Amino acid sequence: MVEIKSIGVVGGGQMGSGIAQLAAANGLDVILHDSDSTALNNALKSISDNIQRLISRGHLSKDKGADAFRHLKGASSLEDFHSVDIVIEAIVESEDVKKKLFAHLDKIVKGSAILASNTSSISVTRLASVTSRSSQVIGMHFMNPPPIMKLVEIVRGADTSDDTFNTTKYLAERFGKTIICSQDFPGFIVNRILMPMINEAFHALYAGVATREDIDTGMKLGTNHPMGPLELADFIGLDVCLSIIKVLHAGLGDSKYAPCPLLVQYVDAGRLGKKRGLRQNMKFLFQCPCCSCFCFVKPQKGKPKEKPVEAKPAKPVDAKPAKPVDAKPEKPVEAKAEAKAEKPVESKTEKPVEAKAE
Ligand SMILES: NC(=O)c1ccc[n+]([C@@H]2O[C@H](COP(=O)([O-])OP(=O)(O)OC[C@H]3O[C@@H](n4cnc5c(N)ncnc54)[C@H](O)[C@@H]3O)[C@@H](O)[C@H]2O)c1
Repeated sequence: MVEIKSIGVVGGGQMGSGIAQLAAANGLDVILHDSDSTALNNALKSISDNIQRLISRGHLSKDKGADAFRHLKGASSLEDFHSVDIVIEAIVESEDVKKKLFAHLDKIVKGSAILASNTSSISVTRLASVTSRSSQVIGMHFMNPPPIMKLVEIVRGADTSDDTFNTTKYLAERFGKTIICSQDFPGFIVNRILMPMINEAFHALYAGVATREDIDTGMKLGTNHPMGPLELADFIGLDVCLSIIKVLHAGLGDSKYAPCPLLVQYVDAGRLGKKRGLRQNMKFLFQCPCCSCFCFVKPQKGKPKEKPVEAKPAKPVDAKPAKPVDAKPEKPVEAKAEAKAEKPVESKTEKPVEAKAE
């Protein structure tokens, strides 16, 4: 078994920065790389802020905090990874982009190094196939945020060796994580189960079953989840969720995994979640009294009424399928914004939901 002393992390987004922080705080030498220099600087700043916060709250001693800083450095080039013992990749959830990176890393890192992917869903076997070391390629799937969440899901590709598995398992345990092992099938264990639920929550919102607040509250208080599915999607990143659902759909070939059009539209609109302030945008998502669809129109206070609300009465939510936002004319949308001010949206969506529950 290789002793891991140094680690290269590729991708300084939510996951990569958390993995780099975790590794540095556990005494490993960490090199963090992101192809976007702004993202790299932001990652280093966020790690620094997090460590300072842990120190100020008494969760980490000053000495350990200073030690973590000493262990961490940013790199603008992957060439700096030549002597690391393991690379953990946490870049965009795209098979093509990850494959290019793995092929490149394979040429740079030393022969004994392990190449691990934090992929949420993509085949580890296929990522390994572009390298000359398929026995040393493995899935090491951290949960978000990596320093806090207790689980690491380990995924063995078709050729992953026992030695690579044991080294990776030992590393995860050194980070204080509990590990689970999955076969290399789309979405592995966690996302195979989680993502259909998130997708279904979007379908429920899209079909007008309930407001996003009631969907989230229902799942939080009704099923004891710490976060509602929409809030969780917001936290994960809607782009990441959509990519994973597409991998499930393509890889398992079942239409039940087809992504909800509302989720697709959010991603198309660049509303990616907490990382881009989606939560803020989501409060403007309300049911349209003109056509009963859900749309992204921000209510405009003080605008003169252009159409009486009675001209287009709201109908029971489940009676009308959602329509594409761009199919709506401008005027009814403005009238709808006025209507919202007069009659809270919640009262419209709640009634059918209550009736349904009864
Ligand atoms: N977000 C989650 O909750 C979560 C949880 C577990 C696993 N994951 C997985 O972790 C990976 C990263 O997700 P994230 O949420 O951190 O994404 P993110 O969008 O926050 O960050 C991705 C980072 O990768 C960088 N990047 C993209 N292509 C690159 C390349 N070729 N070389 C170097 N850097 C590159 C981007 O600049 C960006 O900073 C994905 O595979 C995702 O499926 C995400």
